Amino acid sequence: MVGHFWPLAASAALFGVTSANPSQFPHRYQNVENRLRQRGSSGTPETTSPPFYPSPWMNPNADGWENAYAQAKEFVSKMTLMEKVNLTTGVGWEGEQCVGQVGTIPRLGLTSLCMQDSPVGVRLTDFASVFPSGQTAVATFDRQLLYARGLAMGQEHRGKGVTVQLGPVAGPLGRAPEGGRNWEGFAPDPVLTGIGIAETIKGIQDAGVIACAKHFIGNEQEHFRQAGEAQGYGYNITQSLSSNIDDKTMHEMYLWPFADAVRAGVGSIMCSYNQVNNSYSCQNSKMLNNLLKDELGFQGFVMTDWGAHHSGVSSALAGLDMSMPGDTAFNSGLSYWGTNLTLAVINGTVPEWRLDDMAMRIMAAFFKVGNTVGSQVPINFDSWTLDTYGPVHMAAGIGQQQINHHVDVRADHGTLIREIAAKGTVLLKNVNNALPLNKPKFLAVIGEDAGSNPDGPNGCSDRGCDNGTLGMAWGSGTANFPYLITPDAALQAKAISDGSTYQSILANNQWASTSALVAQDSVTAVVFVNADSGEGYINVDGNEGDRQNLTLWKDGDALIQNVSSLCSNTIVVIHSTGPVLVDAWYDSPNVTAIVWAGIPGQESGNSITDILYGAVNPAGRSPFTWGTTRESYGTDVLYEPEGPLPQLDFSEGVFIDYRHFDKTNQTPVYEFGYGLSYTTFSYSNLQVAKTGAAPYTPTEGYTGAAPTIGTGNVSTNLNDYLFPNASFPYVWQYIYPYLNTSSSAKAASGDEYYGLASDSYLPPHATDGSAQPYLAAADKISPGGNAALYDVLYTVTADVTNTGSVAGDEVPQLYVSLGGPNDPPVVLRGFDRLSDLAPGQTGVFEVALTRRDLSNWDTTSQNWVISDYPKTVYVGSSSRKLPLQCTLA
Ligand SMILES: *[C@@H]1O[C@H](CO)[C@@H](O)[C@H](O)[C@H]1NC(C)=O
Ligand SMILES: *[C@@H]1O[C@H](CO)[C@@H](O)[C@H](O)[C@H]1NC(C)=O
Ligand SMILES: *[C@@H]1O[C@H](CO)[C@@H](O)[C@H](O)[C@H]1NC(C)=O
Ligand SMILES: *[C@@H]1O[C@H](CO)[C@@H](O)[C@H](O)[C@H]1NC(C)=O
Ligand SMILES: *[C@@H]1O[C@H](CO)[C@@H](O)[C@H](O)[C@H]1NC(C)=O
Ligand SMILES: *[C@@H]1O[C@H](CO)[C@@H](O)[C@H](O)[C@H]1NC(C)=O
Ligand SMILES: *[C@@H]1O[C@H](CO)[C@@H](O)[C@H](O)[C@H]1NC(C)=O
Ligand SMILES: *[C@@H]1O[C@H](CO)[C@@H](O)[C@H](O)[C@H]1NC(C)=O
Ligand SMILES: *[C@@H]1O[C@H](CO)[C@@H](O)[C@H](O)[C@H]1NC(C)=O
Repeated sequence: MVGHFWPLAASAALFGVTSANPSQFPHRYQNVENRLRQRGSSGTPETTSPPFYPSPWMNPNADGWENAYAQAKEFVSKMTLMEKVNLTTGVGWEGEQCVGQVGTIPRLGLTSLCMQDSPVGVRLTDFASVFPSGQTAVATFDRQLLYARGLAMGQEHRGKGVTVQLGPVAGPLGRAPEGGRNWEGFAPDPVLTGIGIAETIKGIQDAGVIACAKHFIGNEQEHFRQAGEAQGYGYNITQSLSSNIDDKTMHEMYLWPFADAVRAGVGSIMCSYNQVNNSYSCQNSKMLNNLLKDELGFQGFVMTDWGAHHSGVSSALAGLDMSMPGDTAFNSGLSYWGTNLTLAVINGTVPEWRLDDMAMRIMAAFFKVGNTVGSQVPINFDSWTLDTYGPVHMAAGIGQQQINHHVDVRADHGTLIREIAAKGTVLLKNVNNALPLNKPKFLAVIGEDAGSNPDGPNGCSDRGCDNGTLGMAWGSGTANFPYLITPDAALQAKAISDGSTYQSILANNQWASTSALVAQDSVTAVVFVNADSGEGYINVDGNEGDRQNLTLWKDGDALIQNVSSLCSNTIVVIHSTGPVLVDAWYDSPNVTAIVWAGIPGQESGNSITDILYGAVNPAGRSPFTWGTTRESYGTDVLYEPEGPLPQLDFSEGVFIDYRHFDKTNQTPVYEFGYGLSYTTFSYSNLQVAKTGAAPYTPTEGYTGAAPTIGTGNVSTNLNDYLFPNASFPYVWQYIYPYLNTSSSAKAASGDEYYGLASDSYLPPHATDGSAQPYLAAADKISPGGNAALYDVLYTVTADVTNTGSVAGDEVPQLYVSLGGPNDPPVVLRGFDRLSDLAPGQTGVFEVALTRRDLSNWDTTSQNWVISDYPKTVYVGSSSRKLPLQCTLA
């Protein structure tokens, strides 16, 4: 989501003031003429997206949704047309207290549904926690911790009155390591991301909050995701970037984790800013109707990213269910839906069953997570100010009341946050027993990244700077720190309690004093460095969301090289949003240990202290590859568009991250899945058992016809849709379902035309509510695609023995070679975190290999197929340390 927020301190100035003040939207009004960097005149879209209609309607009998749909049907049956429209359309930017809210249904006692960022905690409020990033959490390779994180985040959102937590993230997947928001997601591997997103969703929804899997799909870079935003930094593009993704790559990579999200019962999915094959994601019928709702059988609702809505009728027919934040442009007071959707249903361009389907999907998700009408936790915070009193309708500046109740929802989540960040920390190098530290005589901590931001942990709005230790990256995927324990604070406390001496220099640019310190005898130097990134609406140090390079920030490389030239025991700790280039110094004999601590959240210092001192024996695994050069990845962000319609061809197909390094036979510095421990493990006794599952059956037959829910015929008398009466408490700029006047629909829009310019053209079958054939790869009942894809075909076990002298966790991993000439050498298909194996103890690693795990997407039959090529399973401790293997019979 986007966040052109006013600084919190300035929001008081908004009261009663028009929010069309140009300075608030510099990217829209600024004269960019002198900064235009438009290149060439090409950029004509070549790739197109085939139409797919009608939009699949919900299946009330879908697994896990039966009760929810029974409740939804009862509720939606009582709703009028305009009440249904109210549920589908946001009230406009800053119209209410959450980052997005839809209209209420006062007659039926339904208060507003509250959509709130973010994937790491409740954004834009106080007394809430900041969790480790998704990328750091998934580096634990621990399903229980991923679930626990989701549950705790869900509990905090629920406590604040949030209905939908806008997370977790599987798009970006991480096509390019420079991608600004990769840290918000999990890993550039669909299986790891799929398990990460599914466990997080289960946790959030078990807490009674609807999860929102985002961004669907192809949102792999920040540059050019929105035309207006890119104009603001000097590119005169006319449309958002198009991610051009072929069908096989879509299924085997980018769609895969969303299938897991749907299978986990996710209640909502957010369509993205970008286009896919030159059709905007939020009106792309191939993506929403065909892949998401038909093939995957998604039963929840699709909402737009904030401002990703670009048409009225087209998006409704293409499968969109909710417009966020509801207005055409922030604070325009106009909407593609709202009044327009009311009219479109009355005039028949959007069939009544489609609107009913939207309402049913939204209410089913609401009930599925345990909500009941009338007993929602009241929204007790305000996103636009931390002041206790203020206007409930911030954009209009009216409704003065208590808007922040400052409810402390943190419980004891700090303990969990500390554990996750420690267990997600990856030990990349450790020689001469440099780690764990054991009462070092003299500990010196060097680097700005060990200390605090002089402006405080929340000193930069949406964490849009890289000052002090990097506890959280930037953008809307953030939350306010309740506190941030710096590495300096925690390490100093530990060192002093041990009787060590301790000195820190919390800057990268104090070489005179730093050299004097680290040149002393018996110094153990820990150098903290970082590399940051974030969302495209904030530019930090020239990085427009995406990183402009893969090197450390603020002279980090020089600092490490300088310190290690003087100190033979130099330990490096990296906080980063992805891989950084370490080639210049990683193999120096004086660099005795290297630790990747990701983006750890509020307990940063405690987590890294637990690892450095061995209170937690490291077992995190790198969720991406560490290449020697930027070019070694084979993929990059598109920084210069070739024309007004930027085209990003995913021509590398499935070969990103380790798949690319393996295919091109390059040796990375540290491979995907790599990580050390303070003990050692051996692998043995690989066993493969075939289960004798039934053969795969493509789904056949027809759905039922589209149901209309409720009272039947829609009135065509426009007088029935007017604003209730003169005393109706109309809020300025607010989006309503009503018409202003009945004289004509045209007049009602207050505009020359009242719909999408091209919607006189309705795609064939778009309004057809008759029974539709099932797709072969879909399922009649089970969300996530044909249920037989998840049949277990083989059970694989192996023994993992702790051969060292201390207890520790190990992360055994299973990779498969699908065997074809165009297949990656190996792909991850299973893993586990075997916890707390004592010295000499053996644990059993077990993976259930499913049909999907062994299949390729076949573009001809439009189904998953197990090829005839020989298949091999490998088991080991990383994508390149695979001592055990066996051919599948
Ligand atoms: C995009 O185009 C490619 C190549 O023509 C095609 O394989 C794929 O199915 C299309 N995807 C979408 C979502 O339109
Ligand atoms: C739609 O929502 C608005 C805002 O909550 C509310 O004022 C209005 O009464 C609702 N309209 C209907 C028809 O429920
Ligand atoms: C931007 O490009 C559009 C279409 O290519 C053109 O009409 C417009 O004049 C350009 N704007 C500027 C400021 O150059
Ligand atoms: C209806 O949508 C069109 C764009 O398709 C927009 O220009 C118009 O202002 C909208 N009408 C209302 C009442 O929001
Ligand atoms: C904090 O970051 C901002 C933006 O990156 C920078 O301009 C400013 O100088 C920094 N402040 C300090 C005290 O480092
Ligand atoms: C890479 O970008 C960072 C952050 O903007 C900057 O500090 C660093 O100097 C850049 N590195 C190189 C080699 O230009
Ligand atoms: C590295 O050392 C050189 C002198 O040898 C000094 O000029 C430079 O500022 C130092 N850089 C850092 C980041 O420590
Ligand atoms: C390692 O550190 C020692 C000082 O302890 C220094 O003399 C030596 O040159 C350093 N070696 C390297 C490769 O930097
Ligand atoms: C029906 O209403 C919608 C929404 O205002 C408008 O876009 C569309 O052009 C109208 N169609 C007809 C046939 O009147």
